[in-house]
Amino acid sequence: MSRKTMTRRRLIRICVTLAFALAAFPAPAEYADVVLNKRSEKEGVRPVVFSHWFHRIRFRCKVCHFELGFKMRAGANDVLMADIIDGKFCGMCHNNNIAWGADRCDLCHSGRPGLKSGIYGGHQTLGPGRW
Ligand code: HEC
Ligand code: HEC
Ligand code: HEC
Repeated sequence: MSRKTMTRRRLIRICVTLAFALAAFPAPAEYADVVLNKRSEKEGVRPVVFSHWFHRIRFRCKVCHFELGFKMRAGANDVLMADIIDGKFCGMCHNNNIAWGADRCDLCHSGRPGLKSGIYGGHQTLGPGRW
């Protein structure tokens, strides 16, 4: 066997191993829920539970992370309720048209008091009311 073939085989083996390793450890945010509580509790409402997975299987990443301007880091977004009612962020869809509207406070503000912003649930999604 030539040296070149051996190197190529080794490379392929490394790639295959890597692919398996990545498949075994999906990024936590892939399925988890995101809690948004930058302002909610300070303003007297419960934290927001956003089920990433539920939304991700319905919409492309770029809809939210490019067109709507959601930064890809839990807790990085400064979302005001007035913006949502104005049709920004969650309000682009939660407008009684694409999805139920911003008047359904409890469906979004479903988190237990005291929850900090961040990722919850690891590999699973539990949706509103579970955290
Ligand atoms: C579609 C989801 C959704 C619905 C429905 C919703 N909210 Fe919010 N709301 C959010 C998100 C997301 C934030 C930002 C959370 C944070 O960072 O704390 C927020 C933030 C807030 C805040 C704090 C920020 C600010 O602007 O003062 C208040 C108060 C609030 N919501 C009240 C309400 C009330 C009252 C209702 C019902 C009339 C409601 N929300 C319905 C998603 C929603
Ligand atoms: C319906 C809107 C929506 C869609 C679609 C969506 N995301 Fe997100 N994503 C969010 C929101 C909201 C957050 C939380 C932002 C915050 O906490 O301020 C988030 C957070 C994230 C984070 C940060 C997680 C962390 O650990 O901090 C990553 C990474 C991410 N999204 C990747 C993706 C990818 C990749 C896709 C497509 C496969 C996608 N998102 C689709 C709304 C969406
Ligand atoms: C790109 C459109 C889009 C955006 C942006 C969006 N949603 Fe949704 N959301 C939907 C649709 C569609 C449904 C399904 C509605 C139905 O079943 O009637 C839904 C359902 C939900 C549900 C209930 C279902 C579940 O199990 O999670 C919650 C809670 C929710 N959204 C919260 C949010 C919050 C909070 C934000 C902003 C951080 C947000 N959504 C942004 C489209 C969107």
